[in-house]
Amino acid sequence: MTDYLEDARQILAANDRGGYTVPTDRLYPFQWNWDSAFVAMGFATYDVPRAYRELERLIEGQWADGMIPHIVFHAPSDTYFPGPNVWRTHHTTATSGITQPPVFGMALKKVHDAAKRQGRTGTGERSRFLYDAALRWHRWWYEARDPESTGLVALLHPWESGSDNSPAWDIALARVPTTTKTEVIRKDTGHVDAAMRPHDEDYRRFIHLVDTYAACGWNPAEQWAAAPFKVAEIQTTAILLASGEALLELAREFGQEADAEELETVNARSRKALLAQWRPELRRFVSRDLISDTDIEAPTQACFCPLLALDLEQTALEEVIAEMNAWSDGLKVLFPSTQPSYSGFEAKRYWRGPVWAVINWLLIDGLQRNGKDTMAEKLRLSTVRAIEANGFAEYFDPLTGEGCGGLGFSWTAAAYIELLRLKVDGSMRRARPELTSPS
Ligand code: SER
Repeated sequence: MTDYLEDARQILAANDRGGYTVPTDRLYPFQWNWDSAFVAMGFATYDVPRAYRELERLIEGQWADGMIPHIVFHAPSDTYFPGPNVWRTHHTTATSGITQPPVFGMALKKVHDAAKRQGRTGTGERSRFLYDAALRWHRWWYEARDPESTGLVALLHPWESGSDNSPAWDIALARVPTTTKTEVIRKDTGHVDAAMRPHDEDYRRFIHLVDTYAACGWNPAEQWAAAPFKVAEIQTTAILLASGEALLELAREFGQEADAEELETVNARSRKALLAQWRPELRRFVSRDLISDTDIEAPTQACFCPLLALDLEQTALEEVIAEMNAWSDGLKVLFPSTQPSYSGFEAKRYWRGPVWAVINWLLIDGLQRNGKDTMAEKLRLSTVRAIEANGFAEYFDPLTGEGCGGLGFSWTAAAYIELLRLKVDGSMRRARPELTSPS
């Protein structure tokens, strides 16, 4: 009988490059921000010191202003574009200039709790160091990406969402010129079928944005003023809030009263702002395009991610479940990153329909938080079975279950480790007595 859990651990070992884990060989040969946070949560279930190390190595790339970049280029590689010479950030450890979803706080709490459960000595200091780094990053998010204190944080590049070419960006990204100062020499399509990757035109826009922000010297205020792409985003804000809740618990545990107060304030503001993005007529949440000042109504997985950090009242919750069930109808693997009946849906193309194990992980967390265990279990089983049948692929075709993109993928391995454990644990975690109504 195949020991899939052992296989998952071996993938993480094979992708280890010295205390940090590359998402997969060649296609992504550096340390990616939210990938590493998921990987750390996987390690936390069986190797706590290695879990700490993963987060510590990511922090080597943290900027003086608190931003944690989306890529840390620890060692050179010529199998990826755009490399450090395109980003031109001049950070001592070479990094990209944009960020990625802040899963870090959630990961830190899990690693810290695992260390405590095991009665490990000397980990308090490691947790405190990482807590300080996480808090500085959260402050950066609110200062640099929500200068008007709306509670929703904005992305200036689609890659910051982690969901690079999601249909959610189609309208906003179409405004970004396709001209670039940098020559676009794609490497990804040398590793993976081009039909699974973003189009060349998307890449030119992605690099136009990099050129624009590099010309701002990566100064947050200048970028905010110059940005031709600016989306107040619900998936990122939900993750920030969930991590903010984790940091609040750590602040209290560490006796950091002023930090706790500060976190309570920003968390409350983000909670209120997320609730205001609920659209009952669509039965889902929506992001906002800050350039056109309009809702982004494209139906993507992000529309359900606010569950991760909200306690929804029953009516809204039932509508969410009805909508999620409608999207799932007839699919081989759940949950699609785009509604299958939507015109922008593509079953195999990066973020335009495929199933991502880590997104399921977040959705399962959100469903459990809201007491929707049946749907959570449906997603959990679907993910575990898809991986066992099709391998530890980067993502899966929801219609056929085929594993797509990069193979031997770290975050899929981490998700497998965690989702298998949830069953063993009986899964149900945080009880949340208070309910909140969407406005
Ligand atoms: N996911 C992006 C890529 O495909 C960058 O984060 O290169």
